[in-house]
Amino acid sequence: MKILVTGAAGFIGSHTAEFFASQEHEVFGIDNFSEYYDPALKQLNLEDIKKAGVTFIEADLNDDLASKISTTFDYVFHFAAQPGISATTSLDEYVQNNIFATQNLLDFIKQNSPNLKLFVNIATSSIYGKEATLPETALPKPISYYGTTKLAAEQLVLGEQRTGKLKACSLRLYSVYGPRERPEKLYTKLIKSIYDQTAFPLFEGSEKHSRSFTYVGDIVKGMATVIGKEDVVNGEIINIGSDVEYTTQQGIELIEKIIGLKAKIEVTPPRPGDQLRTTALIKKARKLLDYEPETSFEAGLEKQVDWYRKKFL
Ligand SMILES: NC(=O)c1ccc[n+]([C@@H]2O[C@H](COP(=O)([O-])OP(=O)(O)OC[C@H]3O[C@@H](n4cnc5c(N)ncnc54)[C@H](O)[C@@H]3O)[C@@H](O)[C@H]2O)c1
Repeated sequence: MKILVTGAAGFIGSHTAEFFASQEHEVFGIDNFSEYYDPALKQLNLEDIKKAGVTFIEADLNDDLASKISTTFDYVFHFAAQPGISATTSLDEYVQNNIFATQNLLDFIKQNSPNLKLFVNIATSSIYGKEATLPETALPKPISYYGTTKLAAEQLVLGEQRTGKLKACSLRLYSVYGPRERPEKLYTKLIKSIYDQTAFPLFEGSEKHSRSFTYVGDIVKGMATVIGKEDVVNGEIINIGSDVEYTTQQGIELIEKIIGLKAKIEVTPPRPGDQLRTTALIKKARKLLDYEPETSFEAGLEKQVDWYRKKFL
């Protein structure tokens, strides 16, 4: 199958592109190397996906895509986005990269891939709001620009599906961690600060937040199961994540145990827009996709520490 992975130089997109290439699919990756975090890290991911056989196109999804891509696709996995809840990222950046970019991609795909089997939108538990502990039918109540613009993107994709323009589904992911995790996210930042023996800034109260931390390999396998199931998932929103919750404090202690050193925690003011609790309700994913996350939290964190050591120490 010909698969387009947007955001292919990023954290989850790079794992997904690599996985599909290993399954003998013809994989095309696109990314604009956004400067939200160090593009040099994305270059490292790019080296890996190229080795795996992925064809890479450097482009912004807001560009005239038809002038840059001449191939048609069977599947699109749309990861490219302005991720994260960041006080220094403007609303414009969220709107540009989550809303306009998604519509431009949809327009390109409708025009140029008439035989598309499925457009897979990658969404987030942030759509649910302060507490993401609900099934897919719950009313979305996002509390951040990120959650709100990702909800809009999801609705743009599903709107095209509802009007019969393409088959599509949206997968809502929960706190993904593992090798290549973004540098501003909890575990990569924590591991780096422990090895560098620098202060680790912890948002006040966040040690009590609980999360459905999900190992990236389990996310990729879950997403990949939609291939061939387009009639089953068409028009659906599906939560994908681990249904076992851990607090941030438990995660910090596990990392300290794996590394064998203590973090130098420095409490900073709470982050507006942060979720208090996320628990992936995955009954629907189990039913439609036979989805079952397999990696224990400790085993997943060990892989992330191992990756960090090999790449950066
Ligand atoms: N990491 C998580 O825990 C998590 C949880 C839920 C959902 N998600 C979703 O998963 C997706 C990937 O997240 P990630 O953590 O891998 O982030 P990431 O920033 O590592 O990857 C996103 C990639 O998209 C690229 N990009 C951004 N805007 C673009 C544009 N306009 N054109 C082309 N490329 C563009 C970036 O350069 C980046 O490489 C996002 O849609 C995010 O909302 C992530």
